[in-house]
Amino acid sequence: MYDVLKVRNDFPMIQTLKERHMIYLDSAATSFKPQCVIDKVNEYYTKENANIHRGDYDLSFEVSDEYENARKTCAKFLNAKKWEEIVFTNGASSALNLVAYGYGQKFLKEGDVILSTEAEHASNILPWFKVSEVTGAKIEYIALNHDGTFDIESFKKAMHEGVKVVTLAHVSNVLGYIMPIKEITKIAHEYGAVVVVDGAQSVPHLKTDVCDLDMDFLCFSSHKMLGPSGVGVLYGKYELLDQMDPFMLGGGSNARFDICGNILLKNPPFKFEAGTPCVEGVLGFKRALEYLMDLGMDNVQKYGHELHAYFMERMKELDNVEVYNPHAQTSIVTFNVKNIFAQDVAAYLNKMGIACRSGNHCAKILLNVIGASETIRASVYLYNTKEEIDYLIETLKGVTLEKCIGASL
Ligand SMILES: Cc1ncc(COP(=O)(O)O)c(C=O)c1O
Repeated sequence: MYDVLKVRNDFPMIQTLKERHMIYLDSAATSFKPQCVIDKVNEYYTKENANIHRGDYDLSFEVSDEYENARKTCAKFLNAKKWEEIVFTNGASSALNLVAYGYGQKFLKEGDVILSTEAEHASNILPWFKVSEVTGAKIEYIALNHDGTFDIESFKKAMHEGVKVVTLAHVSNVLGYIMPIKEITKIAHEYGAVVVVDGAQSVPHLKTDVCDLDMDFLCFSSHKMLGPSGVGVLYGKYELLDQMDPFMLGGGSNARFDICGNILLKNPPFKFEAGTPCVEGVLGFKRALEYLMDLGMDNVQKYGHELHAYFMERMKELDNVEVYNPHAQTSIVTFNVKNIFAQDVAAYLNKMGIACRSGNHCAKILLNVIGASETIRASVYLYNTKEEIDYLIETLKGVTLEKCIGASL
């Protein structure tokens, strides 16, 4: 039985919110951290501070083991076949850039096609623009329905022999729709294409089994799933990682190099991890994964759906509000108050103690599809309550243009 009040006790920021008379509805941007994660980061600096894979002393051996155990924990969390398939990066953006550079720029050529959607976050489309510019490969888009929903038939129509990479978010950061990844990978693989999944908004909320979903690559960030900032993950099937080029070269990623410029890189994942990583972040991330596994991702997912369904239901009471993703299944509600600029509404909500985001949410092409250049995004996570949603709804009932403009001044 999921007990949100008990969960809230684990998050010091919940107490801070009480003191500041605030509610936080912006976890799609970044999540709060439970005390065990904060303690781990602190413990590293107070009791374990050493570099990894470089020292010849116990402290360094111990922290290196912990770092590698974090990789194993992550492999278990994703049900990956091998821990070697987990590459630590410094966020989802750097993981997506690594795939685009290391796989896309290496293997794509003129005439090849990268298939994506208009709903992508900048971090999963700009790197592919670069691949296109460098290799001559073309980007094509799967047609979305007028409300931004995805239709597997449109995907089937968009697939053809020329498509070498399909890249898309498992959950859109603006619309919160869940893509049918299993069907997508099955179809893409029939054409010999690899599938890159941006999991920044899905892995924190949905039980993710990379083998069952047959993803080739999956990229996500620790900070959106209770872990520290500065850490991300690239999961890749080992044989693909093995063929890929690293994005960065340097210490820790090579087995040998000589004066003539010959470099022998280590095997994955180490060849992708040049330089000193964010050690404290990875150790904290391990705690976050353990925390989520203790709660049970099935429970997290179920509570998330319940909270989100309640949120959507209550939004229906508001006739001054337009919701852009009424069919979303998880965490995100994107809306506008009719005839009021999104930033002005966000300023008013801020004044009323509600933190949410307004703007284009880094998905600038999607706005052509949903027909709104700016929206307000409220997003919930495992520590939010129905009472917090009630407060937002009641506040929105009282919104007027004057109040919003007043708050913006
Ligand atoms: C769908 C999606 N992809 C990628 C990213 C980039 O994540 P990060 O900023 O942690 O690198 C985000 C961040 O908001 C996102 O929502």
